[in-house]
Amino acid sequence: MGLLDGKRALITGARKGIGRGIALTLAREGANVGLNDLIEDDVTQASAAVCARSGVKATVHQGDVSTVAGVNAVIDAFEREHGGIDILVNNAIFPDQSRPFFETDEAYWDRMMDLSLKGYFFAGQRAAKSMVAQGTGGSIICLSSVHSYVAIKDWTAYGVAKMGLRRMVKGMAVDLAGTGINANCIAPGAIVNTLPAEEDAVDGEPYDFEARPAWKTRIPAQRGGLPSDIANAVLYLSSPLGSYVNGETILVDGGMIATSSM
Ligand SMILES: NC(=O)c1ccc[n+]([C@@H]2O[C@H](COP(=O)([O-])OP(=O)(O)OC[C@H]3O[C@@H](n4cnc5c(N)ncnc54)[C@H](O)[C@@H]3O)[C@@H](O)[C@H]2O)c1
Repeated sequence: MGLLDGKRALITGARKGIGRGIALTLAREGANVGLNDLIEDDVTQASAAVCARSGVKATVHQGDVSTVAGVNAVIDAFEREHGGIDILVNNAIFPDQSRPFFETDEAYWDRMMDLSLKGYFFAGQRAAKSMVAQGTGGSIICLSSVHSYVAIKDWTAYGVAKMGLRRMVKGMAVDLAGTGINANCIAPGAIVNTLPAEEDAVDGEPYDFEARPAWKTRIPAQRGGLPSDIANAVLYLSSPLGSYVNGETILVDGGMIATSSM
């Protein structure tokens, strides 16, 4: 018996990193999973294959979730395979997340907001429409960040988007009242996102904490974060364990924000 037996979960940006860890973790708890990513290659297929080894259905849905058309195409494809949707994890991000203030141009700003605010909102709206029609409730989870709490040089556009998500899930919680859908954020700290050496593992090689002296004062947990740290929070929020948490953001940062010295 898993915590999510028979549930249908779509995770965006799940080829590698945190999204892959979430997909594996939910699959191991019995959820049928769909892995979306911009990139579909051997790595994406291998991530889905590892999920399927838990005896669940695991599908790949290549697509760009920074446009409404892309979001709708990905969720339509997921629903064709799975017959509906119970859990949406908005996780996708592009690699160049920081940019100096005076180099932040309109194109970069739009790219950030299109993926991290517009894409996450309309994916939530589209998934909620199906969840309401199903009448079975559901869970919408957005990946925010510690950057939504404090300002670090060169991270303003990213931080604004990630802060917006914390407000977005409050709005979804209120707007979807009475539907059985909960909407929440998880705000990760410094999480390693490299592919693990062992194909079946959830976590890549942990950060070398000793090689980062500044982290000793900044991270009370005294280690870097792992995809499993975030995936376990997703499991909590998307399972009956977290069903009374709604419109909230859970920091999973080893205490980084508590130190005020990030
Ligand atoms: N890793 C961290 O330390 C950290 C810290 C705080 C927050 N986060 C958040 O967690 C989430 C996952 O981060 P990660 O480090 O695992 O990322 P990652 O770079 O390892 O993976 C992100 C995936 O998203 C995909 N992607 C990019 N643009 C896309 C698009 N338009 N449509 C579909 N897929 C797209 C990429 O191809 C990639 O596979 C992100 O939302 C990120 O902002 C991460």
